[in-house]
Amino acid sequence: VIHPSKLKSPYTQEQVAAVKKDVEAILKNKDYDDGSIGPVLVRLAWHSSGTYCAETKTGGSNGAGMRYEKEGGDPANAGLQHARVFLEPIKEKHSWITYADLWTLAGVVAIKAMGGPEIEWYPGRTDFVDDARVPPRGRLPDAAQAQDHLRAIFYRMGFNDQEIVALSGAHNLGRCHADRSGFEGPWVNNPTRFSNQYYKMLIKLKWEKKHLGREAQGAHWQWIARLPHMDEEDEPLMMLPTDMSLTLDDKFKPWVEKYAEDQDLFFKDFAAVFGKLIELGVTRDESGLAQHDGKAGEYKSA
Ligand code: HEM
Repeated sequence: VIHPSKLKSPYTQEQVAAVKKDVEAILKNKDYDDGSIGPVLVRLAWHSSGTYCAETKTGGSNGAGMRYEKEGGDPANAGLQHARVFLEPIKEKHSWITYADLWTLAGVVAIKAMGGPEIEWYPGRTDFVDDARVPPRGRLPDAAQAQDHLRAIFYRMGFNDQEIVALSGAHNLGRCHADRSGFEGPWVNNPTRFSNQYYKMLIKLKWEKKHLGREAQGAHWQWIARLPHMDEEDEPLMMLPTDMSLTLDDKFKPWVEKYAEDQDLFFKDFAAVFGKLIELGVTRDESGLAQHDGKAGEYKSA
């Protein structure tokens, strides 16, 4: 396999730079969540990639299957329609870029703009899908579970324990929405700034189990805590059961501790693992275009 940096790019550097600039320009949005659409763009890049299965070589960002009900309507993807709608004017303006490339690039641009590391991104994903290649539902992680489930899901993609902990650090960004996932609240108190706070909060705060919403309306129990300066009326910080499981596991916990202490190490490892995530299942031919099953271009545009 030739490294993507050595292949022909379907776009010029100027074209990619123009899209990056336009994504940067829409990130700040005072009417949305905590004032930035960055976090939901990061989640879009992750969920479009995280369906990958290394054994069957199916799923992943190539094909942008989330445009279709089968993948887009997966309850795990609830809320990501907002991210796709935010990016639509950019797709209209730069119609040469594929959705699959745009969604992954937007995530990388958002992370950097929120103070995170530079992540390598390579073009060439196509929007060709046939029905059989839209990944089945149920491939994304279920936040109500614990470390065994995390291992099953992320080992399937080809990640190891350290990479699972590093990837989870993306929960420095954004928040849970009761109507999307049944969980509620942000993980850190500055959720539009990329940092290693998530790991610090996991270790330092006293977390208590709580149902914030009504179980009958789909609310799950979660962990909540407040920082010393926070009042009872302030929205608490939160952790998912899966987040907390990282501290309850002998193999995961040392990485949580390392990343809490060393932000540079976290940034370096996160950049590597996020770069790997958005490349899952993207195998390009000499032209630089991603293939499906070794038959580039043979699949009809859906
Ligand atoms: C949000 C689960 C891993 C990035 C969420 C939400 C849940 C969740 C339930 C809240 C969705 C909502 O209500 O809007 C999980 C589980 C994971 C996981 C169980 C397993 C480890 C990841 C990874 C990334 C990521 C690997 C990226 C590398 C995000 C971001 C948000 C988010 C940025 C905030 C989205 C927003 O503010 O709208 N995640 N996630 N997550 N997740 Fe994860």
